Amino acid sequence: MEFEGRDIISIKDFSSEEISYIFKTAKNMEPVAAKGSNMLRGKILATLFFEASTRTRLSFESAMHKLGGSAIGFAEAEIASVKKGENLADTVRVVESYADVIALRHPLEGAARLAAEFSKVPIINGGSGAEEHPTQALLDLYTIKKEKGKIDGLKIALVGDLRYGRTVHSLAYALSLYDIELYLVSPETLKMRREVLQTIKEKIEVTERTSLEKIVPLVDVLYVTRIQKERFPDLAEYAKVKGSYKIDLEALKEAKEDLIILHPLPRVDEIAAEVDNTPYARYFQQVWNGIVVRMALLALILGAVK
Ligand code: NCD
Repeated sequence: MEFEGRDIISIKDFSSEEISYIFKTAKNMEPVAAKGSNMLRGKILATLFFEASTRTRLSFESAMHKLGGSAIGFAEAEIASVKKGENLADTVRVVESYADVIALRHPLEGAARLAAEFSKVPIINGGSGAEEHPTQALLDLYTIKKEKGKIDGLKIALVGDLRYGRTVHSLAYALSLYDIELYLVSPETLKMRREVLQTIKEKIEVTERTSLEKIVPLVDVLYVTRIQKERFPDLAEYAKVKGSYKIDLEALKEAKEDLIILHPLPRVDEIAAEVDNTPYARYFQQVWNGIVVRMALLALILGAVK
């Protein structure tokens, strides 16, 4: 298995064996994340974020620091030369002289792939428009495996904005590598993208629903997402679906005792605060898992772990 020098653009570029190897590496990173290490001393990560982010950028930077490396970058494209009209290909060809690896978030689909074509250093896709968010899918899957002890055999529901949500696109592709039953719950206008649906339906059993009620008692994992307001071409359309799902204690009345609830965050109003203190809520553990998974990816890509 070869990870050194590799780009991470789409989750589809990874086999289930490779994903297992990343998880094994992430598990070994758990004590390292607590203590720190010098594994990537002298290495530099550049985070180029052309779109809003809290977790993804900070967790990549934190992961790099915990491995003894350092991080540079920008979070506001407004203050970068892009504002002066520089194109992405040029930006990447400049930054490759400053950094050993680049994490990129961009509003355009295909942006990460394009950057990788021009860059000599590996590109990690930190979100490409509504298309994909592969490292989030890896940490989501790692969380499921860690919390449930397995992935095969589970019934998993993805809830919310399945059309514009990039995390659910990557996660659905990743889940289709396992023996699971997938429930897709969304408003009619926000159903799972057709290209994703077609691909995953060839591999796993998929059920699409608009109502959550009958799904809650069936599933082992509820993966809830935010309606992606910023991606709607028309805010009147957003107004119609806003607040479609609300996971509160009442909605969880018939849930399995060992149900876990995940969310890539940020949440708006789709999970009530009263759920946070129940044993179902695992979305803050998920954040910690993001650190160890990203540490594993950086160490593998930069050749510090074979
Ligand atoms: C997600 C994203 O940016 O796609 N956030 C994240 O990276 N954890 C989800 C979202 O914005 O709703």
